[in-house]
Amino acid sequence: MADATQRPLALVTGASSGIGWAFSELLAEHGHDLVLVARRGDRLRQLAERLGSDHGVTAHVCEADLSVPGAPATVHSFTQDRSLHVGVLVNNAGYGLGGSFLESSWETHRAWMEVMAVQWLHLSHLYLPAMLERRAGRIINVASLAAFCPEPPGSNYPAVKAFMVGSTRALSRDLRGTGVTATAVCPGFTDSEFHDVLGSTATVSKIPRLMWMRARPVVEQGWRAAQLGRPVVITGFNNKCVAALCWLLPGWLLDALAPKAVLERTRVPGRGPKTTSAVP
Ligand SMILES: NC(=O)c1ccc[n+]([C@@H]2O[C@H](COP(=O)([O-])OP(=O)(O)OC[C@H]3O[C@@H](n4cnc5c(N)ncnc54)[C@H](OP(=O)(O)O)[C@@H]3O)[C@@H](O)[C@H]2O)c1
Repeated sequence: MADATQRPLALVTGASSGIGWAFSELLAEHGHDLVLVARRGDRLRQLAERLGSDHGVTAHVCEADLSVPGAPATVHSFTQDRSLHVGVLVNNAGYGLGGSFLESSWETHRAWMEVMAVQWLHLSHLYLPAMLERRAGRIINVASLAAFCPEPPGSNYPAVKAFMVGSTRALSRDLRGTGVTATAVCPGFTDSEFHDVLGSTATVSKIPRLMWMRARPVVEQGWRAAQLGRPVVITGFNNKCVAALCWLLPGWLLDALAPKAVLERTRVPGRGPKTTSAVP
């Protein structure tokens, strides 16, 4: 079925809320048609309607659970079947896992690793060949400031985001001179549903407001960096300062200075000690 328009096309994972929603709005404002990917189809349809009426673009809804092995291939088939040529791939879907390492079942860890470490790499692998053929394309991976920070007890989140940053940097080098770029966007604390899903809203409410950003400036800075072909961008001045301090200071001093709210250990009734890793 042919359904392509002359407008450039962006695919955004995790478009049903937060940073992915804001990226979709920004890209629609810049004249892109969209493929919106997430599990909550109702939210995606609501966004698609809004983008159509506000910006006159076409937004396709692709409901997918990216923790299911093989889901990226299903998403790719969705676009192939409709002759949709993805020029911008925003790998944004993600979430945090609370608790100590053993508190979550292996299935919970496996599904999380699928979303955080596998699916975005697979999507890039699927969409890059056509981008290279057209000698144009942008891969944008939403990583985190956490990639540069010490790990809260039991949390694999900084490690998996550091993998995303390193992998994006390597891909960016691989793509030099091809017309295709890869950029890791590293936000700090950002207004979204992230901390509600993680169950850390009460904990992070203690973090000063000046350490928070709205999703809109995050995606504006991310998009600008992608257009300039930068491999990595840390969004916001304060977050850049945090990353610089984490790079400069020794681990023992960082542990001593880390805000209690970031590493706070709480007790979950009946479930033993729990670490609320309030990582960004
Ligand atoms: N907010 C922050 O403080 C912060 C800071 C640094 C980095 N980040 C990163 O930013 C990205 C976006 O997070 P956000 O802050 O915008 O949080 P959010 O509002 O909770 O959005 C997360 C998005 O990921 C999607 N998602 C989660 N699991 C999925 C799955 N199994 N399959 C498909 N989609 C899935 C969700 O959609 P459905 O639930 O509808 O599937 C939702 O659209 C994440 O990668 C996060 O790690 C966030």
